[in-house]
Amino acid sequence: MSTEKIALVTGANKGIGLETVRQLASKGVHVLLGARDIVKASAAAQPLIASGLKVEPIELDVTNSAHIASAAAMIQAKFGRLDILVNNAGIMVEAVDWAQNTTIDVTAAILRQTYDTNFFGTVAVTQALLSMVIKAPAGRIVNVSSIMGSLLFHAKPDSPIYDSKPFAYDSSKTALNAFTIHLAHALKGTAVKVNSAHPGWVKTEMGGAGAMLDIAEGASTSVELALLEADGPTGGYFHLGKPLPW
Ligand SMILES: NC(=O)c1ccc[n+]([C@@H]2O[C@H](COP(=O)([O-])OP(=O)(O)OC[C@H]3O[C@@H](n4cnc5c(N)ncnc54)[C@H](OP(=O)(O)O)[C@@H]3O)[C@@H](O)[C@H]2O)c1
Repeated sequence: MSTEKIALVTGANKGIGLETVRQLASKGVHVLLGARDIVKASAAAQPLIASGLKVEPIELDVTNSAHIASAAAMIQAKFGRLDILVNNAGIMVEAVDWAQNTTIDVTAAILRQTYDTNFFGTVAVTQALLSMVIKAPAGRIVNVSSIMGSLLFHAKPDSPIYDSKPFAYDSSKTALNAFTIHLAHALKGTAVKVNSAHPGWVKTEMGGAGAMLDIAEGASTSVELALLEADGPTGGYFHLGKPLPW
């Protein structure tokens, strides 16, 4: 078996996902760049491929079961394993700014739409690819969460996010954090490590121009967790190398 690592990053046509692809590929990883639109995936991959990186576009809307099945079949046929899965795709659709509390008015449709991508889609992609991650010698799964998923920070009046409460987004990331803990437990006794990442508040379409971190720093937590050594943590929640409270 080749020693080259194979990675898949979802939601990778722009923002933190695209930069995660670039950083992993720059470290010699062969990266599948997932996007819900293959035209966008190819356009995002093209300059990386032109600069000599091993990047392959792949069509993957994480809410589309046919896309998930064909991505799984392609990875199985071509590589037979998946060393790194970065579940990066995510949406925040309910609020015009982050300083809103949407809890009283958010509709069931928006809750479902948000959970479909941020939670159900991530779980479905992971379950479909899990046997291939287990087959890799040192499988790594990174669930790109957010500090906004931290129940402890939401409950503490002196926390930096106390007055920022888009309920659908926040609770979808809390659910994703539960997936991290449960999956890490289910994989005890295997070489696979599963962790949640908080990228920071990052200058992307979602984070906005006023965010604190540039995209390179925003992708670094995902990249670090994707490349953890054998003595690294599993079942944790991290930002720039430091643990966050659940
Ligand atoms: N930016 C921040 O400050 C920040 C902070 C904490 C956590 N995060 C998390 O970091 C991750 C990346 O965020 P970002 O800031 O890079 O956001 P972004 O610039 O809005 O990019 C989000 C990416 O996810 C993709 N996506 C959305 N729905 C999808 C689906 N159903 N299937 C596949 N891909 C889908 C988007 O594709 P399209 O282009 O097709 O829409 C896009 O490529 C998200 O999970 C987000 O919650 C971000």
